[in-house]
Amino acid sequence: MDIPPSDDAWALRFVDAGRRVEMDGETRWLLRGVGGRVQAGTAVAVIGPSGAGKSTLLSLCNLMQTPDAGEVHVFGREVRDWDVRSLRRRVGLVMQQPVMLPGTVRDNLVAAARLHGAPEPDVSAILSEVGLPPELAERPARDLSGGQKQRIALARTLVNRPDILLLDEATSALDRESAAIVEALVMRRVREQGLTAVWVTHDLEQARRIGDEIWLVAEGCVVERGPAAQVLAAPRTAWGRRFLLGTAAEEADGAPAGRDEGMLAHGTEHREEGTRG
Ligand SMILES: Nc1ncnc2c1ncn2[C@@H]1O[C@H](COP(=O)(O)OP(=O)(O)OP(=O)(O)O)[C@@H](O)[C@H]1O
Ligand SMILES: [Mg+2]
Repeated sequence: MDIPPSDDAWALRFVDAGRRVEMDGETRWLLRGVGGRVQAGTAVAVIGPSGAGKSTLLSLCNLMQTPDAGEVHVFGREVRDWDVRSLRRRVGLVMQQPVMLPGTVRDNLVAAARLHGAPEPDVSAILSEVGLPPELAERPARDLSGGQKQRIALARTLVNRPDILLLDEATSALDRESAAIVEALVMRRVREQGLTAVWVTHDLEQARRIGDEIWLVAEGCVVERGPAAQVLAAPRTAWGRRFLLGTAAEEADGAPAGRDEGMLAHGTEHREEGTRG
């Protein structure tokens, strides 16, 4: 069933949510004790070290993965109570490594719309919106560059007019100018059309620009959550201070990744934080 946006102001609500894998006979929690709410029409920037569980967190919101513990509510309804296709139309995901369908760019956009019963897309207009030339429509989608694929993946999601947009490092392969176009497009929809965005990014400046709130994920928990300015300027947990100060120092040095080193041996502070609703 397809339900209209409810009066529920919370586009997303995590209640002690978790996801685990079984490996070599052992249980490993990729995410655990996640609580938190995302108000409809706002943008949350999700930051955190590599391997922390950010993509896993997004995947629970549209049933790309099913929670193994707790609940995830979308507009007041638990994800498992949704019809999956309706859920995925309402909650669009732009994946970290987007997969192009066979055929041209146009085929990709039309197929996405058809899958969800959306009207035939204006391909030139949507390409222009994501900063791509109209000629690209007839190119095989799989031949595009990584940055072009990212933008086609975004365009493909937007043709279904989702109410919630999950972006997994959606501008990471883009040059600054293209990233700015994508960022402006998404944020215009948030500010003017009430779109809710949950945006995983490694770029703290981007997080500051787009995030009404910032969530910091570390070792499978949301360890900090709050208004962007507060989280970035005055993180409350040891995790937050280490990650944010460590990242700032690395960026100033121009040093590459490895920002999660030294993050993984902490105590319980983040677990308590993670379960707060
Ligand atoms: N199906 C799976 N089986 C085993 N381990 C997995 C599986 N999926 C993810 N993981 C592990 O879970 C952890 C969290 O993965 P996730 O992709 O959510 O991290 P991330 O924060 O998005 O990292 P990155 O910033 O590198 O994209 C990682 O250590 C990853 O290797
Ligand atoms: Mg990821």
